[in-house]
Amino acid sequence: MIEIKNISKTFNRGSADEIVALKNLSLKINEGDFITVVGFNGSGKSTLLNLISGSLIADSGEIIFNGSNVTKLPDYKRSKYISRIFQNPLAGTASELSILENFRLASLRTRSKSLSIGNTKSFRKNVCDKLKTLNMGLENKPEALMGSLSGGQRQALTLLMSVMDESKILLLDEPTAALDPKSAAIVMELAEKIIREGNLTAIMVTHRMKDASNYGNRLIMMREGSIEKDYSESEKKTIIADDLVRWFNI
Ligand SMILES: Nc1ncnc2c1ncn2[C@@H]1O[C@H](COP(=O)(O)OP(=O)(O)OP(=O)(O)O)[C@@H](O)[C@H]1O
Ligand SMILES: [Mg+2]
Repeated sequence: MIEIKNISKTFNRGSADEIVALKNLSLKINEGDFITVVGFNGSGKSTLLNLISGSLIADSGEIIFNGSNVTKLPDYKRSKYISRIFQNPLAGTASELSILENFRLASLRTRSKSLSIGNTKSFRKNVCDKLKTLNMGLENKPEALMGSLSGGQRQALTLLMSVMDESKILLLDEPTAALDPKSAAIVMELAEKIIREGNLTAIMVTHRMKDASNYGNRLIMMREGSIEKDYSESEKKTIIADDLVRWFNI
């Protein structure tokens, strides 16, 4: 579904702070894969997601989506295929607007078929039905300002909103890093449910080794701009969080 061939990315080329973020990286992602990615700070994980989403363009190499070459395609032209979740819960939602208004914005952006935007009453009901699935009691206060919610609640809402469109690829960059353990677990369960039910292809960067080993069907370990290990589904089943922690110490 996504084929990454020999991509490289260098920042500040030619200057004293030149940084080679990715070196000749290749990766084949199959439809329905849920790949967890671990690696040292600065090993190029976010850069890899940025190249897939198109928010950065590779210096060399190719990125192919379902047979078409998107290497030079800017992010707004890829956004119909791709949804993104970032580390910061504030990044995905507008604080000064209510939950309902945030959903309205998301439905306009994605032209969601699952939410009718014409009729205020049916829109409200649709949103409340979605909120109910979170079991966070938010269906009782759809007028609450997004800024008044916890990071975990906001991240859960960002996930719900991100998959209202037809996009089939979900990129998650440390989605639970800013959350307490309980909220992190709720958000991870929700992410997994959304990925499974939507039959999405997902790539999740995480520094939580338990999540990296428990979720997904493939696991990638990155070091210095390269993929050092790429574990298949059967290999991944044998890997536990402690194995991953050990890898960081070699
Ligand atoms: N826009 C940028 N300009 C300059 N250098 C950058 C830029 N983005 C990333 N880098 C550098 O590229 C390297 C890879 O960064 P990247 O953000 O991909 O790492 P990461 O694996 O996501 O790290 P972390 O675990 O800390 O999030 C780092 O050395 C980083 O400083
Ligand atoms: Mg990063």
